[in-house]
Amino acid sequence: MKILKKIATALLVAFVVAQFFRPTQNKSLGNHTKVFIAETNPPEKVRVVLEQTCYDCHSDNTNYPWYNNIAPVSFWLSKHVRDGKKHLNFSDWATYSDKEKDHKLEEVVETLDNGEMPLKEYTWTHEQAKLTENQKILIKEWVLHSRALYQLKNLRQ
Ligand code: HEC
Repeated sequence: MKILKKIATALLVAFVVAQFFRPTQNKSLGNHTKVFIAETNPPEKVRVVLEQTCYDCHSDNTNYPWYNNIAPVSFWLSKHVRDGKKHLNFSDWATYSDKEKDHKLEEVVETLDNGEMPLKEYTWTHEQAKLTENQKILIKEWVLHSRALYQLKNLRQ
């Protein structure tokens, strides 16, 4: 019993100490996806879906839930955002070539079709991130259109 009490105390101390450490937050002021929006011109319904279900991990601005104030959850979320942005960052659109943009959009549809995105863990806590078939169709239409524009630009280069 004594040993259990010691372990419990150690864990509690570790938890409390961990609260003093915070990962840097992914926050941006202003219109951080301006280039992306201007170039791909998503219809309002698609723009809202991207904002509410993808930007948290794929842009320079995350809307953090209250539990992000608690370690180790904060570190876990921070890793998701870092990994997500490494693969696709709508705020970094201007840095991608037309070919890359075309490919990223292709992947958007692939991840939706495979049910990979948004991440399962995310949809547990974000009800609006469970996309309906209709929302997916609207995204696909917009992707087809935008990809065609990038492919045409590529042909002309
Ligand atoms: C909770 C964080 C999170 C959310 C929300 C999220 N993603 Fe991701 N996304 C990731 C991570 C992390 C990766 C890196 C690959 C992996 O770990 O599966 C990724 C990778 C990707 C990739 C690249 C896949 C590849 O094969 O390289 C695409 C495309 C993508 N996400 C699209 C989306 C779209 C579209 C949405 C919204 C509908 C979305 N994601 C929402 C975290 C997220």
